Amino acid sequence: MPLFDVYPLYDVTPVSGKDMFVYDNEGIEYLDLYGGHAVISIGHAHPNYVKAITHQVTTLGFYSNAIQNPLQKQLADKLEVLSGCKDYELFLCNSGAEANENALKLASFKTGKKRIVAFSNGFHGRTSAAVAATDNQKIIAPINAQQAVTILPLNDIEGVKIELEKGDVCAVIVEFIQGVGGLDQGTADFFEQVDVLCKTNNTMFIADEIQCGYGRSGKFFAFQYYNVTPDIVSMAKGMGNGFPIGGILIHPDIEAQYGMLGTTFGGNHLACAAGLAVLNTMETENLIENTNNISEYFIEKAKAIPQIKNIKGRGLMIGLEFDFEVGDLRKKLIYDEHIFTGGASNKKLLRILPPLTIKKEHVDQFFKALIKTVVEIEASV
Ligand SMILES: Cc1ncc(COP(=O)(O)O)c(C=O)c1O
Repeated sequence: MPLFDVYPLYDVTPVSGKDMFVYDNEGIEYLDLYGGHAVISIGHAHPNYVKAITHQVTTLGFYSNAIQNPLQKQLADKLEVLSGCKDYELFLCNSGAEANENALKLASFKTGKKRIVAFSNGFHGRTSAAVAATDNQKIIAPINAQQAVTILPLNDIEGVKIELEKGDVCAVIVEFIQGVGGLDQGTADFFEQVDVLCKTNNTMFIADEIQCGYGRSGKFFAFQYYNVTPDIVSMAKGMGNGFPIGGILIHPDIEAQYGMLGTTFGGNHLACAAGLAVLNTMETENLIENTNNISEYFIEKAKAIPQIKNIKGRGLMIGLEFDFEVGDLRKKLIYDEHIFTGGASNKKLLRILPPLTIKKEHVDQFFKALIKTVVEIEASV
């Protein structure tokens, strides 16, 4: 049976991984600066992670949400300590889109309203309300288009004010660092005013931290660079280091009721074991501190390369903007230099999303290969 052909694939077949590297079916080693799309947080096949999952699957892999599962509470407690998000409550699900779907649904339940305000170039997932709030008409099917969504330019605070004062907006959803869109960020003033406007207009402020959260920005959550208090924070990607787990943090002003949200798989034993191993490792290996140190080193190196016109993002969510489209550069980095990098909807941007365990030697390896490849591309035109 053929696979439904929705992904344009690189011709590489990784079969194993170890920390910053993956190995293909011919034994070739690739440096992973893409982290499987910002997913690998503590490194491939981290021993703590392997041990925790192995132990859990041989003990109890799954039971439904109809019974007590103390691992969920352990995960919530650890998350509270490491994120510094005191008093929030946790609901667990399986993916980023599902986290945003639940966040938007909860905002609508809480406010009794149904319009969403989202921003240009934002990406929030591929399901119902999440895709409707995504600024990409190509992935919005007619069935999704029935959602009431207003997309505004980032930093358009007047626009946000006008829309919220109409009284029908249940949620403003924002990525504090845009991922797929190309690493743009709103200003501090903008985010802080949106926070105030949400609070004065009975609108929920949703921080989509699915890509920029879990340490990647250099703080646990990217919204923590600002003086804001989101009502809901959505998470996924780095949360499970590859195990499918997502979740939302919910401000205590939003009261839970039985049946309001639910899922079969969300928060299962195996997912919690993976999630706990990630948090424990982030703590014991000081991965947020490492993120900041390596980010600084990486950006210094990038500044020295004249072909890089602009450096975007924060922490280990970095965009290198060239004055040419980077499709060929990415291909040459993979096939000739054996380095994975990411792209973005901005075709001139190379996205760097490595595991948070990256060291200076990996950065050096990348820049050596990048300089060589850029020179080759320049010589060929
Ligand atoms: C900011 C953001 N939100 C939501 C999603 C959707 O997550 P998932 O693919 O796990 O559904 C993504 C995925 O790239 C994302 O980057």
